[in-house]
Order: sequence, then structure tokens, then C-alpha cells
Amino acid sequence: MTSYDVTLEWPDGRTDSVAVDPRETVLDVALREGIRLPADCRKGTCTTCVGRVVAVEEDAPDEPEANEPVDAAEAFDYRRQPRALTAAERADGYVLLCIAVPRADCRVAVGPMIRAEVGDSPWG
Ligand code: FES
Repeated sequence: MTSYDVTLEWPDGRTDSVAVDPRETVLDVALREGIRLPADCRKGTCTTCVGRVVAVEEDAPDEPEANEPVDAAEAFDYRRQPRALTAAERADGYVLLCIAVPRADCRVAVGPMIRAEVGDSPWG
């Protein structure tokens, strides 16, 4: 099966790329590769693993304007309901990497600043 390249962008400018089969989550693959992506509940009810999609690679690249939100649904499907995020947050690119499975190559910003942007989950 096809896998997708998911590049994680850390606040210090470092990047980690993982090839993720759509049958696996980004978190599962990242941990297997030794990438210390934070996680807690692993079922979409806290925001510990949240990232923000900043770019999606498409066949015909249509680069978003700087700071223009990218809908996370362009890059990810979910195995179960991402209860910790609102629909508006998902449309702004926020994605729960513990339950997200990729549908496109993409770049995702991760780290404490991203988590601070969405705040704590009411389910967490
Ligand atoms: S680890 Fe809790 S939502 Fe992902």
C-alpha cells in the first residue's frame, strides 16, 4: 500500500520525516522511528499530540499563502472521532497525530507552541 511522507517541523527548525502507511497513525510510526512525539491518551480526547498542518503536497501544487490555514482534512483522515478538537480547529489545520492517518504528503508543525494554541481539551 502507498505510504505518505509526513514531515514534522519542530520549533527549533529541526524536521523529522516519516513514511506513514494509511493503516497506521503518525504517532505510531514516529515512536517506532525513535521520534519523541508527545502523547497521552492516544484516543483523541486530550491535545497532547496535536500538530498543525502547514502544507499539503498535491499533484498540482497550490501553495497556500503564508499564514493561510490549511484544512487538516486535506491531509488526514481519522480512525475515530477527534473529540479534543472543534470543527473550526480542524479546519484551521490542527490534527491529533495519535489517531490521524495520512491521505497526502504533508508538513506538520509540532511542539508546545502548537499545543498552547488549542488549549486543553474538555475531555482530557
Ligand atoms: S494523545 Fe491525546 S489526543 Fe492524542
